[in-house]
Amino acid sequence: MLISNRIRNTKMSAIRKLTPFAKEAKQKGLKVYHMNIGQPDIDTPEEYFEGLKNYHKKVLGYEPSEGIDELRSAFSNFLGKNNIDYSPEEIYVTNGGSEGLLFSFLMICDEGDEILVPEPYYSNYNTIANSCGVKLVSFETFIEDGFHIKSKESIEKVITSKTKAILYSNPSNPTGVVYSIKELQMIADVAHENNLYIISDEVYRELVYDGIKYESIFSIEKIREHLILIDSLSKRYSVCGSRVGMIATKNKNLREEIVKLCQSRLSTSSVEQYSALNLLKIPTSYIENIRDIYQERRDVVCGILGKIDGVKIYKPEGAFYLIASLPVDDAEDFCKWLLTDFNINNETVMFAPAEGFYMNNEVGKSQIRLSYCISVKDLEKALHILKEGLRSYNNKN
Ligand SMILES: Cc1ncc(COP(=O)(O)O)c(C=O)c1O
Repeated sequence: MLISNRIRNTKMSAIRKLTPFAKEAKQKGLKVYHMNIGQPDIDTPEEYFEGLKNYHKKVLGYEPSEGIDELRSAFSNFLGKNNIDYSPEEIYVTNGGSEGLLFSFLMICDEGDEILVPEPYYSNYNTIANSCGVKLVSFETFIEDGFHIKSKESIEKVITSKTKAILYSNPSNPTGVVYSIKELQMIADVAHENNLYIISDEVYRELVYDGIKYESIFSIEKIREHLILIDSLSKRYSVCGSRVGMIATKNKNLREEIVKLCQSRLSTSSVEQYSALNLLKIPTSYIENIRDIYQERRDVVCGILGKIDGVKIYKPEGAFYLIASLPVDDAEDFCKWLLTDFNINNETVMFAPAEGFYMNNEVGKSQIRLSYCISVKDLEKALHILKEGLRSYNNKN
């Protein structure tokens, strides 16, 4: 029996590619610091667990496919605080931001259609695109520019008759770049002039550092009908396992269609939706504290990396990731070697080779993507292992 080309041609997650080697290292008794994955280590707020405890329905039934009214209203209020105005009826609850992305691709693309994305990009975009028969087409951004978008022309250059949308995450996974209003204006102009949708993935919205004021592309009025907004509670509230996200759009045609997709999976989790309501009541000071924790970690990571010979970085402005260029020819081989052949006092570190975040794999070949979702103390130890590992690896080669 045959397997579909769509799924056969889909690559394994770049973030988890080296997981079997990490598992072996742990079986050998090593401690592995995980700087490969964006899994926040911060405790899930008590309010979430209170929500779970207070859920006392006698039957765990299906909920409305679009999401429970209370949560759609709570999301609407939450976005409103960021000057992003969607009514509850314009918001649909999804199984994480991931399902919102899947629904977006399914709604706007036929097989073979294209979506533009700044490169490097969140590698799951590719996985989701492949499973929908959609082709991602990238426009390059560069480490020297801190991965900011160079020009409007750099986007226009890759438009074809099959292009349906521009997709990006802001702040970005994997680069941590936060797009300025000037860059968002470029995206908005290109989308407006070429009649394209914009899929704005804002799951890291509050994680913006150095007092930078976050701008959502929502603030640009002329593209409101083009815009599909993706959001999720996973990262900001440390509830990745709860799977609550949303998709919002003002576009009436899309709203008519999205309901069909919501109905195809009947409902999202009832318990999780009620618990999520509790999270959205938490004062904004909670997220500000979280932001300060990540900003401190970013500073520690950049401080240490900046002093390692041959390592090239920039200062990311948001999220909890950055891409670093290493003085090695093959970062994947180096990352694997760290897990199989290197340790300091029985400890080693795991990174994601950056190749998987690029369409043009050559560019990312000597780069890694790091996440700083572990404590400052652990970051210091993990990056010391990186520094010594680089020395030892390059002496050996
Ligand atoms: C940029 C970006 N978008 C969306 C997601 C999806 O997250 P979730 O499905 O947990 O909401 C992630 C998760 O890492 C991400 O980094």
